[in-house]
Amino acid sequence: MHHEGDIDRINIAIDGPAGAGKSTVAREVAEQLGYVYIDTGAMYRAVTLTAQRAGVAANQPDELKKLTASIKIDLEPGEQGQSVFVNGENVTSLIRSREVTLQVSYYAADESVRAVLGTLQRKLAARKGVVMDGRDIGSHVLPDAELKIFLTASVQERALRRFREIRDTQPVTLEQLEIEIAERDRLDEQREISPLICASDAVVLDSTGMSIEEVIQSIVKLCRTKLAEAK
Ligand code: DC
Repeated sequence: MHHEGDIDRINIAIDGPAGAGKSTVAREVAEQLGYVYIDTGAMYRAVTLTAQRAGVAANQPDELKKLTASIKIDLEPGEQGQSVFVNGENVTSLIRSREVTLQVSYYAADESVRAVLGTLQRKLAARKGVVMDGRDIGSHVLPDAELKIFLTASVQERALRRFREIRDTQPVTLEQLEIEIAERDRLDEQREISPLICASDAVVLDSTGMSIEEVIQSIVKLCRTKLAEAK
């Protein structure tokens, strides 16, 4: 039986390791469906930046708890994807620095940081029509998401993609990036609280030999199938 307003919008969770192309894919899928894109990694980065500025280390749970409770994080659709604000300050480019990138997995392992951000993420998804990318969205934050994608690619491929993205602006070698990505995988997979795992009902997409466009189209197609099934 079809209830009015029942399912005309679903939630889509896109999880996977660093550099698999999640943000590009999620943003474009949201665009094509007229959905809202939510980059949860940006939230962990925003907390990391704020903590670094305040001199709070990842292994200071009490201070981190206070800091996380006291900041306001806003995501707004911007010119190039999504803009991120902390207490009204636009930190969109600051959260992409290597300083933040190298530390974020440690801060993301903190219990109160995860609790606060998880609650915020659930609120943002409550009205459906959201494409959310992260590590634990399908497995933990939105276990009822109608479509779950686990997007992955080989470490070499992911390092190469990131290298092409940042080589003009940041002094880093491909080898260094491979080591850093493998280390971030390890930290994200091995942390105690909601680690990066593939939800049992997720569709696994290995993008190693695929173009971004192919990945986007296959997710949009899966979404349309889900919507049709739900009618
Ligand atoms: O996707 P990203 O590289 O911007 O994510 C930054 C870090 O945040 C990543 O190393 C792990 C963490 N993260 C997380 O623990 N849970 C999420 N849902 C999203 C990101």
